[in-house]
Amino acid sequence: MDLGLRGKVALVTGASAGIGDGVAKVLAQEGATLAITARRRDRLDALAAELEATTGSAPYVIQADLASDEAPSAIRDAMTEQFGRLDVLVNNAGSSRSVAPDAPDSAWDEAMMLKFTMGRRLTTVLLPTMRAGGWGRILHITGILEPTTTNAGLAGCAATHAWAKGMSRDLAPEGITINCIPPGRINSEQILERLHPTEESRESFIKANIPAGYFGEPEDIGRLVAFLASPGARYITGCVIPVDGGMHRFIQ
Ligand SMILES: NC(=O)c1ccc[n+]([C@@H]2O[C@H](COP(=O)([O-])OP(=O)(O)OC[C@H]3O[C@@H](n4cnc5c(N)ncnc54)[C@H](OP(=O)(O)O)[C@@H]3O)[C@@H](O)[C@H]2O)c1
Repeated sequence: MDLGLRGKVALVTGASAGIGDGVAKVLAQEGATLAITARRRDRLDALAAELEATTGSAPYVIQADLASDEAPSAIRDAMTEQFGRLDVLVNNAGSSRSVAPDAPDSAWDEAMMLKFTMGRRLTTVLLPTMRAGGWGRILHITGILEPTTTNAGLAGCAATHAWAKGMSRDLAPEGITINCIPPGRINSEQILERLHPTEESRESFIKANIPAGYFGEPEDIGRLVAFLASPGARYITGCVIPVDGGMHRFIQ
């Protein structure tokens, strides 16, 4: 099935690892004209070389630290110079942050930066470009809002869900949709190296929490991103759609 993404200009943040890498691969396979960004240039270059070999087209690489004040406008300027437009924005960069119940402001501020502010700032500066094209798709990769312990990252995801919902209503008349995708457990750098570093911890988590019986792959998120980014998804906006092998227990 051709999703109709050929020629659409898409920017994926956090593409140097995990979910962002998988999202970039699926969008590239669907023929999108791609830009990828993260802090680690070597990993972005490696992905660009791989995609050039597999699809015949190399994505445009933008190295940036999204937590810095300058990054959003620098990314906007680079996109404007390279493409002059933006059709699809995937705000994926980020990381989970469990914190102690009495964690200091600095821990909360870092988590809110990673799971809310980076995506909000980038969206805000790129929105005029998308609006000028009269068409757009904004996807936020968030998290399932069922905290089992104090989690500042999930507070940031909740903020993103609320912000995205309101904004989706403002922008629907302009042909711009905004949706959130909370992953369950997807094999990625942070999952395999930090949150579930041993086979034992993965197996016990899966047994207790994931009806499908396994962690997903980044491309599982990528396939939903590709559909929601497509013209065919024009009537889906303001939604939160989990991709989690049945992990969430409550209706979102
Ligand atoms: N994997 C899961 O099961 C899962 C579950 C729930 C939510 N999520 C969410 O899904 C998103 C992707 O997670 P993941 O598991 O794929 O994480 P990951 O493997 O740790 O990759 C995170 C990506 O974000 C980028 N990033 C982090 N901080 C950045 C910054 N300051 N500026 C620019 N880029 C930055 C990293 O690139 P550099 O280090 O090169 O900058 C990397 O490409 C995150 O928002 C995460 O919270 C994932």
